Amino acid sequence: MRRALVAGNWKMNGSSESIRTLLSGLVSGCQATVAEVLVCPPSVYLAQVTQTLQESPIAVGAQNVSEHSAGAYTGEVAPGMLIDLGCQYVILGHSERRALYGETDQQVAAKFSAALEAGLKPILCVGETLEQREQGVTLQVIGTQLQAVIDHCGIAAFADAVIAYEPVWAIGTGKTATAEQAQEVHLAIRQQLSQADKSIAEGCRILYGGSVNAANAAELFAKPDVDGGLVGGASLKADEFITICQVAGEEKTV
Ligand code: PGA
Repeated sequence: MRRALVAGNWKMNGSSESIRTLLSGLVSGCQATVAEVLVCPPSVYLAQVTQTLQESPIAVGAQNVSEHSAGAYTGEVAPGMLIDLGCQYVILGHSERRALYGETDQQVAAKFSAALEAGLKPILCVGETLEQREQGVTLQVIGTQLQAVIDHCGIAAFADAVIAYEPVWAIGTGKTATAEQAQEVHLAIRQQLSQADKSIAEGCRILYGGSVNAANAAELFAKPDVDGGLVGGASLKADEFITICQVAGEEKTV
């Protein structure tokens, strides 16, 4: 049985003051959740967050990482530095990184392998644009994004990784994929993993992301291949995020 995971992607939001308030809400509200709960703050606040959450079951992740381990890479953060701060996860290949910062499948694959090597669990984001969905190439686009990482890192790398399906048209737009649309893509992802290794495919958690909120979470998480969510906007509100985490735990407990 896969344990549900709900990850909050705070993106470039917050201040030390607002994060203090958000975390105090989350710490009291997330004590009893069955789902695994993860928050991914901006990198400059990682130390504050890992320190505050030291005694809490809430895990901490970064939103990006360098593919290099050290050296002359101004402005970058190495995987080992994230481990040093107490991070367990890192989001990779988010569509905003791909679209706004030109990250390619190859770069994402290199980051994935560097993250794993350092001991971080990568959360690999894949997703199609609206044009691609309308052209009927959704599964091909996602298949290519996923295959680049399988080819570079090997299927065994997915034993310690998470995949997030995030349709680009649903991110921050208030438009969510229907639960059926999400399930169709999640199943295709699992089948692709399964072609390389059945048991890794069965164990790998596949999250849905894109305008997840307290009102639509139950329907999405009820689908058999939706193992939780990657939540942007709604993860900045403690009450709403806690509700989403509770729903994930309820839907996935057998
Ligand atoms: P959203 O963002 O929930 O605000 O749509 C999700 C994401 O980009 O991870």
